[in-house]
Amino acid sequence: MNPVDFVHPHIRQLAGYVPGLQTEDPEIIKLNTNENPFPVSAAVKNALIAELQAGQLQKYPNPVSQRLREALSKKYGPAPEAFLVGNGSDEILSILFRAVLSPESGIVTAQPTYSLYPVIAALSNARCVEIPVKDNWHIDLGVMLEEMQKKTTSMRQALCAFANPNAPTGITETEADLLSFAKDNPGLTLIDEAYADFGNVSVFRYAGSTAYPRLLVSGTASKALSLAGQRIGWLAGPVSFIQELEKIKDSYNVSKLAQVAACAAVQDSVEEKQRIKLVLESRDWLIRELDKLGFTTLPSSANFIFTKPPVSVLSKSAAAPSELTPAGAYYDLLLRQKILVRYWNTPQLKDWIRITIGTQAQMETLLRVTTDLV
Ligand SMILES: Cc1ncc(COP(=O)(O)O)c(C=O)c1O
Repeated sequence: MNPVDFVHPHIRQLAGYVPGLQTEDPEIIKLNTNENPFPVSAAVKNALIAELQAGQLQKYPNPVSQRLREALSKKYGPAPEAFLVGNGSDEILSILFRAVLSPESGIVTAQPTYSLYPVIAALSNARCVEIPVKDNWHIDLGVMLEEMQKKTTSMRQALCAFANPNAPTGITETEADLLSFAKDNPGLTLIDEAYADFGNVSVFRYAGSTAYPRLLVSGTASKALSLAGQRIGWLAGPVSFIQELEKIKDSYNVSKLAQVAACAAVQDSVEEKQRIKLVLESRDWLIRELDKLGFTTLPSSANFIFTKPPVSVLSKSAAAPSELTPAGAYYDLLLRQKILVRYWNTPQLKDWIRITIGTQAQMETLLRVTTDLV
């Protein structure tokens, strides 16, 4: 028998998640996966060197990332035991979805939002209902709530998951709307705060509290803390719920170096604030400059922008206008100039481009190239 025939049919049907392109070409300005443009801080570097010098890497790491949980507790509010730490928030999402989803249950999510949610729901052969965002690109919390409240005998909607600020739009919902949704939702609510450090709305402190017992909030060291390469993410929720998830994770799911690096980064709030300030200044500058060139950009609460290029960019493209939208043409033209951004050729997103905010120098290069294209 072919080994592939042993794989579950529902897995074989999946296309799998396609992450943004990762290139190590130093000539490419990489603005496609929302990393921080700044390297790790001196405090993180020193902590990593000290860990190497301590010569203890032959031993297993702390299984629950205890020191990091304590640092997260100080920063975000919930008790250390209310945090599950993982190998990036992607792993945390997988653990959570495995714990609560099955062919008899499903998730409700937004369209668009982080496109990994439907993919990992499908790994559990669970149903996924995607609710389109409103015309103003805000998440349609009302319709998602109706969907979560639907009572069918055959299907249980276990979880509603979306990012806030949302990706790829950068749009944020208000704290009041998020909390009211979490209270009324009879299922679990997962708010993915991968980008919340760049905005001014965070509901971390309410995760798993008695007032919001079904509210789960996830975060990551990959964005504001410049540690995408180390892979650390976390989820906060009720302690009893987190203990259930701990049964699923690998015993030693976060390496010693990753724990040490994240701990130092989480504690270095002065450095974090400084780099967030620089990113936000460059973001707001870029939005203003693109506006002068005829781009339409959504208000962003994140370290990226979602922007619609003007039709004039089509005149610089060799492709026939019927083949490409202005956004598709802009993506190709930027890539030829070694600038990599993110484009989705889907009916909902085909007119828009997502650009990660890099250093001010990178943003100035992007603008210079763009000025010649429109
Ligand atoms: C909304 C959202 N959540 C989670 C992640 C994954 O983060 P991590 O690097 O912690 O796995 C991303 C990555 O781009 C994201 O956009």
